[in-house]
Amino acid sequence: MTADVKNEPTRRDFLYIATGAVGVVGVGSAAWPLVDQMNPSAAVQALATVEFDLSTVEQGALVLIKWNGLPIFVRHRTPDAIAEAQGTALADLKDPAPDSARVKLGQEQWLIMIANCTHLGCVPEFDTGVFRGGWDCKCHGSQYDSAGRVRSGPAPKNLVLPPYEFLSDTLVKIG
Ligand code: FES
Repeated sequence: MTADVKNEPTRRDFLYIATGAVGVVGVGSAAWPLVDQMNPSAAVQALATVEFDLSTVEQGALVLIKWNGLPIFVRHRTPDAIAEAQGTALADLKDPAPDSARVKLGQEQWLIMIANCTHLGCVPEFDTGVFRGGWDCKCHGSQYDSAGRVRSGPAPKNLVLPPYEFLSDTLVKIG
């Protein structure tokens, strides 16, 4: 485990983008700003897929969107965060997975994950824990790295990846 000096954006850069009903995601004690930019109709909400415009997410930032009632992290990783994730030895991981298994080839800057801790489902906080550009679950102390891989604490598994595909370099379809 490496305790890194944080030099990435903080929660100030975290946007919560609600794609459905407001207030459905428990975010613990964090007071994240709410940006309701989609406001889809009921018919759209009923669809099993969500398309999201990645051009709205600056490098280093993280947004939280909703898909099928689940909170989804969309993280635009910096080159440093990618390098750190790629350079981590699998032997250091609780749930070993190379960074390449966490992202799409050629789109390594985008990390898209279900935002529920694999312990009891809390929404971890971004970049407030041990790992630079990682997640800290305040509920019981699980720590995730910059690839969303669990590194310590009671969580048994890495943050789960939803099904998704890139429709273009700036458009992703989740579901
Ligand atoms: S719910 Fe995240 S550590 Fe318990």
